[in-house]
Amino acid sequence: MSEVFGKHDPYLQVGRLSLKGIVFGVGSYARIGSEIKQLLGKDQVRTLLVTDEGIEKAGTAEKVRQVIKDSKIVVETFSETEPEPTFRCLRKITEVVRGGKFDVIIGLGGGSSMDVAKTASIMATNPGDVAEYYQFMEDKVKIKPLPKVMISTTSGTGSEVSFGAVATDDNGFKNFINSPFNQADISIVDPLMSMTCPPRLTAGCGMDALAHLAEAYVNFAATPLTDTFALHGIRLIAENLREAVYSGNNLTARYNMAIASTLGGLSTSIVPLNIGHCISEGIGPVYKISHGVANALALPHQMRYNLPAMAGRIAALAPHLGARCSPDMSTREIAENSIEATKQLVLDVGLPIALKDVNIPREEIPRIVDRIMKLHDPYNLAYYNPLKITPKNLTELVTNMWEGNV
Ligand SMILES: [Fe+2]
Repeated sequence: MSEVFGKHDPYLQVGRLSLKGIVFGVGSYARIGSEIKQLLGKDQVRTLLVTDEGIEKAGTAEKVRQVIKDSKIVVETFSETEPEPTFRCLRKITEVVRGGKFDVIIGLGGGSSMDVAKTASIMATNPGDVAEYYQFMEDKVKIKPLPKVMISTTSGTGSEVSFGAVATDDNGFKNFINSPFNQADISIVDPLMSMTCPPRLTAGCGMDALAHLAEAYVNFAATPLTDTFALHGIRLIAENLREAVYSGNNLTARYNMAIASTLGGLSTSIVPLNIGHCISEGIGPVYKISHGVANALALPHQMRYNLPAMAGRIAALAPHLGARCSPDMSTREIAENSIEATKQLVLDVGLPIALKDVNIPREEIPRIVDRIMKLHDPYNLAYYNPLKITPKNLTELVTNMWEGNV
């Protein structure tokens, strides 16, 4: 069993939450023009809309362009965002923003489009190459970026409010910029923007949001404020994700998932993620597994692994996850039910529970362990993860993950 170190007390943590403009509600996207003019304090505005082909095909990009044009704002579009963007894509948009005279960058899409838009706003004002700024937890951004607006179309990454921008670096690792300069000046949280999100993407993004909230809760740096976000957000996901996946036109389910995503983004702006995301980002880029699916695979193991150190916290999630808990049950039994309910949610929304189900050969386990260990220090897991991570314990975890033994 892993060594337990330290003692968690959320009331001994010092946290910081920076809040800018969050505009939320059904149809709130129509306010984008007036919000931008108010933000800049002028009427003549030139914007760059950063999105992807899927959002163009769904007609969502055109809807947003139309409301921007209706406000007499000039809008150009960059729709070449790659899923799980690489530095190549970031360098391309860097050329675009440095060559244009934009006042505002608008990110419209899932985490990829929003993170490319965030990077564009930074690279427009900061010199050099993107690699100088993608330095994991180390914030290298010095100059105030262009103002930015984020509109999520997937409900999951929380990028619409978070400090993070994630991309695959030149070494094939998921790297990120973690900076207050990454936070959107205006975040639009509108369920109408996610109504056309396909079922599997909805499922993966929902699990990503659940991972943000659960990792902020089962975390040595958890605070009373992140606990508030986490417990409510987890309940929203447990009660609405299945409906959002299987009845995508259910506006209430979409709305609740949009709020849960934002709560997850706010949580990760205060408390960094731990072993769950470290695992997902250790496997995702190599085996071409999307961030959301990788988190669905990793999250039950984040809880299982940390159970010896935080059984009480994992048990506290049970009523929010819809898991059975009653006074005659032990904390350990209730915590087991929380883990089981998480696994059941993954299965119910049609996502895999085992690495062997995503065609990863068993012989890859040592390589996966090695990659995750390389992320140990950049993620500062010694501080944020309740249980110490060692290659031996991690090998046990990844082997269980390969088998689907939660
Ligand atoms: Fe994530």
